[in-house]
Amino acid sequence: MRKILVTNALPYANGPIHMGHLLGYIQADIWVRAMRAMGHDVTYVCADDAHGTAIMLRAEANAISPEQQIANVQKEHERDFAGFGISFDHYDSTHSDTNKARSQEIYLKNRDAGNIAIRPVSQLFDPEKQMFLSDRFIKGTCPKCKADDQYGDSCEVCGTTYNATELENPRSTLSGATPVEKSSDHYFFKLPNFTEYLQKWTRDSGRLPVSIANKLDEWFDAGLADWDISRDAPYFGFEIPDAPNKYFYVWVDAPIGYMASFENYIKTKRPDLNFDDYWKKDSQNEVYHFIGKDIVYFHALFWPAMLEGANYRTPTGLFVNGFLTVNGQKMSKSRGTFIKAETYLEHLNPEYLRYYFASKLSDKVEDSDLNLDDFIQKVNSDLVGKVVNIASRCAKFINKDFDNTLSTTCVEAELVQSFIDAGDSIAKAYEDREFSAAIREIMALADRANQYIDEKKPWALAKQEGQAQQVHDVCSVGINLFRQLAVYLAPVLPSLAEQVQAFLQLDSFDFASRKTILLNHAIAPFQPLMQRVDPKAVTAMVDASKDSLAAPAATPVKAEKKKEKVAEKKAEAKIGEAETIGIEDFMKIDLRVAQVLDAATVEGSDKLLQLTLDAGEAEPRNVFSGIRSAYAPEDLKGKLVVLVANLAPRKMRFGVSNGMVMAAGNAEGIFIVSPDSGAKPGDKVS
Ligand code: 2FM
Ligand code: ZN
Repeated sequence: MRKILVTNALPYANGPIHMGHLLGYIQADIWVRAMRAMGHDVTYVCADDAHGTAIMLRAEANAISPEQQIANVQKEHERDFAGFGISFDHYDSTHSDTNKARSQEIYLKNRDAGNIAIRPVSQLFDPEKQMFLSDRFIKGTCPKCKADDQYGDSCEVCGTTYNATELENPRSTLSGATPVEKSSDHYFFKLPNFTEYLQKWTRDSGRLPVSIANKLDEWFDAGLADWDISRDAPYFGFEIPDAPNKYFYVWVDAPIGYMASFENYIKTKRPDLNFDDYWKKDSQNEVYHFIGKDIVYFHALFWPAMLEGANYRTPTGLFVNGFLTVNGQKMSKSRGTFIKAETYLEHLNPEYLRYYFASKLSDKVEDSDLNLDDFIQKVNSDLVGKVVNIASRCAKFINKDFDNTLSTTCVEAELVQSFIDAGDSIAKAYEDREFSAAIREIMALADRANQYIDEKKPWALAKQEGQAQQVHDVCSVGINLFRQLAVYLAPVLPSLAEQVQAFLQLDSFDFASRKTILLNHAIAPFQPLMQRVDPKAVTAMVDASKDSLAAPAATPVKAEKKKEKVAEKKAEAKIGEAETIGIEDFMKIDLRVAQVLDAATVEGSDKLLQLTLDAGEAEPRNVFSGIRSAYAPEDLKGKLVVLVANLAPRKMRFGVSNGMVMAAGNAEGIFIVSPDSGAKPGDKVS
């Protein structure tokens, strides 16, 4: 029996749970339930992520204390998770004494190990609110294109990135005041101390999806930078020891909240468990974090580094899910596709969504689409039309004509055994998080079970003289097949499984229990197990979502939300996988033929080459390209390449890279895309 600790990303305590969140929670819960059903000892914890400026401001906008704010939201989150059958053993808050102590301890261990630096940082300060402003709370005129109303980090009109201090006519979005530049000491976590450790860690087998590890290489190539872990008061969070008025940045104590939630679980409910058994350095127990792809950076770099620096074990693996679209598009309030968990539960059975997500999820970091028409069709045809139908077709005869008792013999031992045997590969698919494969296999079994009943036609036999035994035998086989399916679907449909377990009067519904065929076994009267999805309920849910979120939020919160989205988009661009784009998006990319004038190795990087390119412009371009493993500089001189000419300049440790050279990559190497001869520097590529 494996001992496993599982966590989900901690939701911020300033907003409701919605469909996008649920993808990751449902994914983790299915895995947890499947692993438990296979007999493993799984502890599953989570918490609200309670700190930060956003939550502080949200509380202010709601005219309540931050403590009240996070308590209110936590109650709603717990209600919503319970509504969707998420089987946390414990749900906590990062604003706990346990988390404070653990965060301070981890910080101090890192400080003592030489992993903390202090240096002054000059930032814009709101003289009215008496607080430092992060970029998201500053607006002004873009220093380059002069567009007004641009945020403190980048211009949404011309794409230039800059420091907030470079904005013209800056103003605080919190008070409208003109911010002043002010310096204060900041505390930094020296991430570069862990470069080698992390390079190895991210490549350890099973640690991360390979696609993510590849993306992280770009960060290593660019060179890791110190991480600013302090925020000045006022800030809702934990004070840094020996640093009055300095608080841990929310992303310091958030992942430590995984540990603290587990610790509080032990304290309050499971004194028999031991914290060190899971978190000490050489622990053999497993720890997995289910996270979205937008927060990989925190979990694959800062988090293992902080743990290593404090001499704790690091997670066994990160399970990363993609984003959710609804009807093929980003969730939208105006279209009514920004659906809150609460709104969904007012209209639809949560198990429909669990099933739909399961049918889509694999171990790949891919985005998933909740297409509402497909959702209705799939749930109705698979769950109601195939699975539940088997029981309703057979149970009525057993209930009515055979004293609620199954036959004493199994007349289709081979068929039933083949269903039992299929459980091994279904279990493996669950364990590998290949849920869509598991569902396909289960539905193929459901088709076979229905085919068997269609062939035997118990309803016709029941009308014939002397066929009672056959009706009994056939329906008993049908119920046995149904039982196998219900056991296999239990991780996805826990509530249906519970009803089936009661109907079949079984003590256990775990995976191993399926191996005993039910003979001469008493069952309960059949009750309808699941209704069809009513398309009207789906429409009503979409309509209610249009209403429920129509009211605009208070200005600072709105501004902060918008910034969050920009940040999310940026993170997605860095760490996400391919998405569909329209031609208008593609047209934005300025692809040009360029000729390599010069190529040179880069000191301090074994991945990069520095290219000097003639792109048909007045001046040659400087581009750093991660192709050193495949090309010697002398092979490149004179070569024609394809340049992404309008890529925003990227500041790297070695200089500024002005564009990107296109190349293909696979397990065998890197291959530059090169136009046939005849193309000239500066030619447009389309
Ligand atoms: O991105 C988020 O929603 C964060 N609240 C996730 C935190 S996960 C963990 F590190 F705490
Ligand atoms: Zn601009």
